[in-house]
Amino acid sequence: MAAEVSLASLHTDEVRRDPYPFYARLHALGPVCKVAPGDRYSYVVHGYEASAHVLRDSATFKVMDETLLGAKPSWEGNRAHAVFMNSVFFTNAPRHTRMRKMFNQAFTPRRINALDPAIESLTADLLDRLAEQAAGGKVDFMSEFAFPLPANVLGELLGVPEADRAWYRPRALALGAILELGGATPDNVAAANTAAEEITPYFAELAARRRAEPRDDLVTALVQALESDGGQLSEEELVANLIVVFNAGFVTTTHLLGNGLTLLLERPDQLARLRTDRSLTPRFVEEILRYEVPTHFSVRWVAQDTEVAGVPIPAGCWVLVLLAAANRDPAQFARPDVFDPDRTETSTLSFGAGAHYCLGAALARLEGQRGLAMLLERFGDIRLAEPPGTPRQLMLRGHEQLWLTLR
Ligand code: HEM
Repeated sequence: MAAEVSLASLHTDEVRRDPYPFYARLHALGPVCKVAPGDRYSYVVHGYEASAHVLRDSATFKVMDETLLGAKPSWEGNRAHAVFMNSVFFTNAPRHTRMRKMFNQAFTPRRINALDPAIESLTADLLDRLAEQAAGGKVDFMSEFAFPLPANVLGELLGVPEADRAWYRPRALALGAILELGGATPDNVAAANTAAEEITPYFAELAARRRAEPRDDLVTALVQALESDGGQLSEEELVANLIVVFNAGFVTTTHLLGNGLTLLLERPDQLARLRTDRSLTPRFVEEILRYEVPTHFSVRWVAQDTEVAGVPIPAGCWVLVLLAAANRDPAQFARPDVFDPDRTETSTLSFGAGAHYCLGAALARLEGQRGLAMLLERFGDIRLAEPPGTPRQLMLRGHEQLWLTLR
């Protein structure tokens, strides 16, 4: 029998500031709990093995898609809903398989690795700017580095001109806000709709330009894959996926950089180790992703009666999968609440698992590693100029601002 819990505290300020004690209490009750009646979710899955099982069994555990929309009527008939529901994020097999295949063809390791020199030179440019700004006093790491780095890298990958990237940021944030737990409020939905209405023609025009004048970028590769595959992907699906890839690709990585730097500044010994041995960077980035992942949860719908970790779960209910809790499961990670880049158990659920495994995991890792290593190389003395604010989000969790002095 699974223990029954209330998820109400996940909406409180206290738990939003520090959800980890709540996750630890869940672990003490087992890997899966039943949620008290009245919640949108009937089960919460937080054990590492149990969460991996749910994510990998995509025939039983489906993501929200158009056919399931009845359960989320506030998204119906609006532009933001249309964008999400036409993308890989919110489609299941066979539609998801078809779309994902197109993306896998275009999003190749070759294309990601080829971005490395561009990532280095974009990072170097941003560091030059940071140095200039820091000479005058404190500087906001988030707006001057953590946001523009992934936005510029994705801009390169997709071919979004630099001048348009700042225009994009508030719109991307508005779209992302409705994915937060309890975030689909009428105001947020309205703002997301407006953002989607503005972003959709932007990407439609970009795709049309690449069709007319092909370049060596992802949009061109997708447009060509689309045409050579005999219309496997509709124009609407192409545009929706460009939007979600651009969105999914930078706000997450922005917070990887911001959360990572904060963790290091709070742990001077670890920071000193990393400074003296840069070969440790990949290990540090993996531990940052485990310890303070920007994406705390995922949601699945149960298509048939099933069982997870011995707990029977009936068809037709919604399950909340707490990825960040799974990353702190004591059954999987020794001393899970200790930031320890030397740990040998490094396989996390930070990028999900199974059919919906993050398309950009390799790119995010590369950006995290290059970004942090080059920052430390450039500035021998990095300090917080103000205490970092406390994040409140569970989805896209991170700092809005991070004021630093740099020398
Ligand atoms: C630190 C950075 C990142 C984190 C923590 C992250 C996390 C995740 C997670 C947990 C999922 C799975 C969601 C689920 O199963 O419900 C996912 C999917 C996805 N991510 Fe990422 N991501 C990151 C960076 C990126 C980047 C850089 C890109 C694009 C360039 C990207 C594009 C995507 C896409 C398109 C999906 C949906 C894949 C599908 O449904 O088939 N992500 N990401």
